[in-house]
Amino acid sequence: MTAIVNQLAFVDIDVVDLDAWAGFARDILGFGTVREGGVLDLRMDERPFRYRLRESTHDGLPTLGWQAPDEAAIELLGQRLTGRGLSFSPLDVTRLRDRGADAGLGFECRNGIRHEVVSGLKPGPAFEPAPAVSGFVTGSGGLGHVVWSIPDVAAMDELLLDVFGMDLREDIATPAGPGHFYGCNPRHHSLAVFCAPSLRLEHLMVEMGEIDDVGCAMDRAEDEGDILMQPLGRHRTDQMISFYVRSPSGFGMEVGCNGLLCGDDWEEVRDSSRKRPWGHGAAMRGHHKARPNASSATRKKDA
Ligand SMILES: [Fe+2]
Repeated sequence: MTAIVNQLAFVDIDVVDLDAWAGFARDILGFGTVREGGVLDLRMDERPFRYRLRESTHDGLPTLGWQAPDEAAIELLGQRLTGRGLSFSPLDVTRLRDRGADAGLGFECRNGIRHEVVSGLKPGPAFEPAPAVSGFVTGSGGLGHVVWSIPDVAAMDELLLDVFGMDLREDIATPAGPGHFYGCNPRHHSLAVFCAPSLRLEHLMVEMGEIDDVGCAMDRAEDEGDILMQPLGRHRTDQMISFYVRSPSGFGMEVGCNGLLCGDDWEEVRDSSRKRPWGHGAAMRGHHKARPNASSATRKKDA
């Protein structure tokens, strides 16, 4: 099956407190910030924005912006969505200009998450990270990853594996049901989901250039007050060394480094080459112990 998306390229989120977000993004995380009226763009690289935040009366859930290689992929995606009974709308000229894209479509998936898939994204002005930050790891791996609790993991499998053509990189068993980690480039996962009664955004992850960036960002978060959610630790799944901080919208931001890259031999090395997880506080002990769900861990897109 042809893969239609190759990275999580951007997110678009309604937020209540744009001023708080500007300070948080710039002073704690080290993003570049560009504000025009009620829109705040957060920059991590040469893209004009990786996060587009819109001032609103409520804190919303992110629209996920996926990158497709070309317009033909967008057309194929439309056919696949229609074939699965999922309705979509082509992005109009105004929205395409807003995204800096040539073509694209948008839809809400069966779990209630809004997705856009676009092609022809253009680079923006040169980017210099904040003085205290060596840089962010983006490139072909995209902006990082996003993790949700969702009610219907099977429906997400259908969308991401059968329609988008992504790989299932990890299938773990938790007391509430399966946790699935989906990848579409060497980054271990661009999206992960955990089974839960209702839809909830768990966190968005940004990867920094080196461990000192992460440590210094954690210091800045601690100095800010009561916003540190989980201390430093290493994940078993993507091996990321990271901490979690509460964003001004309430959801978590994971700030990490040294994330695992998955090659074509991932099926063989998955359970043999990873270091032991540690840290992240008591809440993560269960996740550290979670083991692959052997019944379906090998499902992946066709070659
Ligand atoms: Fe994460």
